[in-house]
Amino acid sequence: MTDDTVELEARLEEQEAFEPPEEFVEQANVSEESIYEEFEEEWPECWERAADLLDWEEGYDTVLDDSNPPFYEWFTGGSLNASANCLDRHLDERGDEAAIEWVGEPVEEENRTYTYEDLHREVNEFAAALTELGVEEDDVVTLYMPMIPELPIAMLACARIGAPHSVVFAGFSADALATRMNAADSEYLVTCDGYYRRGDGLDHLSKANEGLAGVDHDVEAAVVVERLREGDGHGHDLADNQRAYADLVAEHEGATVEPVSRDAEDMLFLMYTSGTTGQPKGVKHTTGGYLAWSAWTSRAVLDVKPEDTYFCSADIGWITGHSYIVYGPLALGTTTMMYEGTPDHPERDRLWEIIEEYEATQLYTAPTAIRAFMKWGTEYPDRHDLSSLRLLGTVGEPINPRAWKWYYKHIGDESCPVVDTWWQTETGGMMVTTLPGVKTMKPGSAGPPLPGVDARVVDTTGEEVEAGRAGYLTVNKPWPGMLRTLYRNDERYIDEYWAEYSDTDSDDPDDWVYFPEDGAKVDDDGYITVLGRVDDVINVSGHRLGTMEIESAIVGVEGVAEAAVVGGDHEVKGEAVYAYVITEDGYEGDEAMRERIVAGVEDAIGPIARPEQVVFTLELPKTRSGKIMRRLLEDIANGEDLGDTSTLRNPDVVEDIQGKVGGD
Ligand code: WTA
Repeated sequence: MTDDTVELEARLEEQEAFEPPEEFVEQANVSEESIYEEFEEEWPECWERAADLLDWEEGYDTVLDDSNPPFYEWFTGGSLNASANCLDRHLDERGDEAAIEWVGEPVEEENRTYTYEDLHREVNEFAAALTELGVEEDDVVTLYMPMIPELPIAMLACARIGAPHSVVFAGFSADALATRMNAADSEYLVTCDGYYRRGDGLDHLSKANEGLAGVDHDVEAAVVVERLREGDGHGHDLADNQRAYADLVAEHEGATVEPVSRDAEDMLFLMYTSGTTGQPKGVKHTTGGYLAWSAWTSRAVLDVKPEDTYFCSADIGWITGHSYIVYGPLALGTTTMMYEGTPDHPERDRLWEIIEEYEATQLYTAPTAIRAFMKWGTEYPDRHDLSSLRLLGTVGEPINPRAWKWYYKHIGDESCPVVDTWWQTETGGMMVTTLPGVKTMKPGSAGPPLPGVDARVVDTTGEEVEAGRAGYLTVNKPWPGMLRTLYRNDERYIDEYWAEYSDTDSDDPDDWVYFPEDGAKVDDDGYITVLGRVDDVINVSGHRLGTMEIESAIVGVEGVAEAAVVGGDHEVKGEAVYAYVITEDGYEGDEAMRERIVAGVEDAIGPIARPEQVVFTLELPKTRSGKIMRRLLEDIANGEDLGDTSTLRNPDVVEDIQGKVGGD
């Protein structure tokens, strides 16, 4: 431990509450505590304040239509276009200001600045190109791209012509791409030749092509952005239905495309996320409610102002990047940053270097990243002047108080509020967190629900639990940013999110309660600490993975009879994948097989789901009724005391498995 951390521990360890810095409060977008009461009294009309952040072509008649729960509708009768809200309306005042500051990973790279004018121009040109390729309103366009500017450009071009996008994280495998294109019947793909990781040009197009080969319907067209430089794999041969992005944009130089008028409730995008079954869920977000929610929370929680240079280090392939790199910040007319690569290339100070160079005003990142920074040590941030930062945020997984305090001190210099924001792909944006200009911060606890959000911690019967007791998080009133359904599967939507705590026969909205499948506890001040998922979803480095998806990949490997996957604690990643595998008769669970299993998971999902440990066993611990005891497998992964295992059908197997789980 360095002297610095010793000192930090001594001084901050005991401190459990931190007040918002006065300098911050004085300039905060929201600084009045009274907002909580106002929103309660004015609910649901309070959400007009979020809708007012947008330009509506046609004003809405009703804030909330709750006549058919849980199919709530927001701002009905209103119409707008998301691309016009993120671009056109800023041109007069912000046309020459940077909309996107993009930093490529290679250090010798020419970084790119897109002013609002530039972005507007290219979005129009690409929207014209998409139209020429045959994309029509309501066609789902799949975007399989890494962190390059053409990704937000394609998103906004889709939004402009009313074609919902479905972004597939570039780290996902070819199979994962095919599954998502099939589920959405998507006939168009925008992808790229490759991108840079730790200095190397990575081939992406081969993976995309392999995915396309697995699509079960005709693909009308694929567009390929050429990101790689000469010599790094640039210049692939394109198939007949594939077009180079640069050619398309050049062909439509100077084109303008009128933004299509979309109903508030029309779909803006689909995002596939992991659930309890092997099949990913297509979360549907709308144009009015979602955009209002991402803009409102960007303003109130991230304190985004037009003159800021705001930096979120998430990947746009996940919901955080959708809401808080693209839609929220651009709707507010600010400068949003994008960084292509990893934080340790070429050295472990890359983020701090970027922040210093661009004078970034906010940093929004994940606890996993913060824990890695902590491990690397303070010398890296200490090399740089980070005084431009005004606010810090985290998202994606619980943050332990030590990491929170390290972030607060070593990145924020004790002068930036830290917002720990709880939300999900399904909620569209933040739900539980402190308002940074108003509320005391308590490291480890996300905070109270945002104004107008009715989140509670309840027991299995739906009664609120006492302060300090663990229970389940629920959201008891709808909110504009909520998912509207699972794409083409209303039944699963009800089953997954509502059935647990609702009277599903009722049409009274008071009988409907949203269940995010997280465990939580609440303190005397109403601050919520989110404990983690209570379903079969695990959270590896803030990435949401379904254990069932991983299990089915493993069972698909030759020689595997059965598999159980659980999350085990991991110092940096939060959780890591532990796979317990039973082989078929005649197969040895050896190193070669372990490699096949790891490769099988990478092929089916991607490297993010790679098992940390594969444990071969003759049996899995099961209850007398034959259910696999996952909790026990988790405890084994974590090296915990297992207590009484005598109720198992096969108690002997436990010791056997324990002996095989080694600490890496
Ligand atoms: C977890 C990411 C604790 C939670 C935006 C949730 C968190 C899941 C936090 C959603 C937080 C997210 N504290 N846990 N601040 N934020 N989570 O859909 O389990 O990728 O249900 O959305 O991440 O993950 P998703």
